[in-house]
Amino acid sequence: MTGNLILIGFMAAGKDTVAREIFARTGRACLSLDRLIELQTGRKITDIFRRYSEPYFRKIEKAALASVLDLKHIVLATGGGTVLDPQNRQRLKRMGLVVHLRAGFPALEKRLKHDRTRPLVRDRAQIRRIFLARRGKYGFADRIIDTDGQTPARIADRIIEEAGMEKSSLGPTEKIIGVRVSGRTHPVIVADGIFSRASILKPFCKSLRRGVIVTNPVVGALYLDRAVALFRNLGIELSAFILPDGERQKNLDKVRGLYDLLVRKGFTRNDCLVSLGGGVITDLVGFTAATYKRGMKLIHIPTTLLAQADAAIGGKCGVNHAAGKNLIGAFYQPDLVACDPEILLSLPDDEFRNGLAEVVKYGFIAQARLFKRLEADPGSVMERGIGLLANLVGACAQLKRRIVEQDEREEKGRREILNFGHTVGHALERCAGFKRLRHGPAVAVGMVEESRRAIRKGALSRRDGERLKKLLECFGLPTAWPVGISRLALRRYIRQDKKIRAGRIRIPMPVRVGKIKIKEVKWENFL
Ligand SMILES: NC(=O)c1ccc[n+]([C@@H]2O[C@H](COP(=O)([O-])OP(=O)(O)OC[C@H]3O[C@@H](n4cnc5c(N)ncnc54)[C@H](O)[C@@H]3O)[C@@H](O)[C@H]2O)c1
Ligand SMILES: [Zn+2]
Repeated sequence: MTGNLILIGFMAAGKDTVAREIFARTGRACLSLDRLIELQTGRKITDIFRRYSEPYFRKIEKAALASVLDLKHIVLATGGGTVLDPQNRQRLKRMGLVVHLRAGFPALEKRLKHDRTRPLVRDRAQIRRIFLARRGKYGFADRIIDTDGQTPARIADRIIEEAGMEKSSLGPTEKIIGVRVSGRTHPVIVADGIFSRASILKPFCKSLRRGVIVTNPVVGALYLDRAVALFRNLGIELSAFILPDGERQKNLDKVRGLYDLLVRKGFTRNDCLVSLGGGVITDLVGFTAATYKRGMKLIHIPTTLLAQADAAIGGKCGVNHAAGKNLIGAFYQPDLVACDPEILLSLPDDEFRNGLAEVVKYGFIAQARLFKRLEADPGSVMERGIGLLANLVGACAQLKRRIVEQDEREEKGRREILNFGHTVGHALERCAGFKRLRHGPAVAVGMVEESRRAIRKGALSRRDGERLKKLLECFGLPTAWPVGISRLALRRYIRQDKKIRAGRIRIPMPVRVGKIKIKEVKWENFL
């Protein structure tokens, strides 16, 4: 079950408005396909039609749809013509429950008559022609809702009822964790529905007036407008800087593009940079904030489980270089981190799993209680109940806070415990090429391998090693050595590990669930 709701229908049938009404009632994130296209291309839809042809638009519309197929728990408002392409129809059907918002011609004509924003609408005859041409194309819907004479609110209520969607019932949760580093304390807020709860952020944003928010098109189409509105409520005007999606964007060219915008707008160190995205965005934005005018204000709104539980906390930031990952970086603490577990609902399953590997790591190395909570009901974790997610993110944030406060700059050997599973994991990622094996799965295999070593050395019981393996498997994470990667090749990569000094490597050695120590070994003896 994807939990997605797909709204289709002729132009002006009210898809975007109804999607927003459904959001207001259920908290379900809405994504307008047209808005996504605008963020991906940097152009308004009308502009694309004016400059190019309709077939060109349909091509980019198809690509835009293809980029969101794996999202979950969203309300997708399609364009009126999205359904013309048979493959789009198949994809929409696979994505979730398809609801046709049906409207009669007279009602549509009335709405469209004065609408100058629609590129295909010129006169009555043309509206009629398009209406007739598209008539059979909505027939693949799972449900039809007649919209004539109905308000968007009524329509939304009916859809919620027909789709059996739950209205948001959880009372607001919130937890504020103070992280004391770099001689000051900054808050990590874990709260659901953050975009409509300006009052929680207000005490921490008082001195801010303007800044830049950085995101990518998919996260932007889901959350950017709400984030900008939230900050406007707080008296902060934000300009948007949109990066294409993906790890490859985490580079100095993109940082330079962001510097250019900051310079052009005359921003000072008292203005803020806001990250809205996963670890790629938080890392890049953190690094830019650290270096622009020797440090500007920084707010993270992490949107992946990995970023909420790990990347946005602790101050490590940086970008990749052609020669390797994260080669250029800094330690720079944010002024505020706002984690909303509700945002995690739209993550594709693979991304959610990716973050779960780190959550399992936190439990295994530092908190038996967290590990047991995951073991107790892995099914509900995968179902992503908001309360449970808030607990998990909060627990990880607390653990990372403790470790970072003891060893902010990774100089005292305390922060090294976070590398559990990562010596083998990073080498596996490099051996496999970053595309084939994601970080989470690589770390999962890495943790199993490193715990096996601990068992061989008599440090960890076989039973605790089994518990780790079983939990990872429950979450659909791999635990077996990946096919096609030789241990010899892996040893070559481990030899290049930046943690090796004078032929020795300090590695985390698990002792029991929730406890780990650091051991120094000759690198040759490591694997
Ligand atoms: N600084 C640190 O301490 C630290 C720690 C761990 C990882 N990292 C870095 O983090 C990066 C990986 O982060 P990541 O796994 O978050 O990857 P990511 O930022 O690429 O996000 C993963 C994917 O999820 C999508 N996405 C993000 N939020 C979404 C949402 N709410 N709904 C739907 N889709 C959403 C993104 O568009 C992207 O395609 C790596 O570059 C890694 O080096 C940094
Ligand atoms: Zn990691």
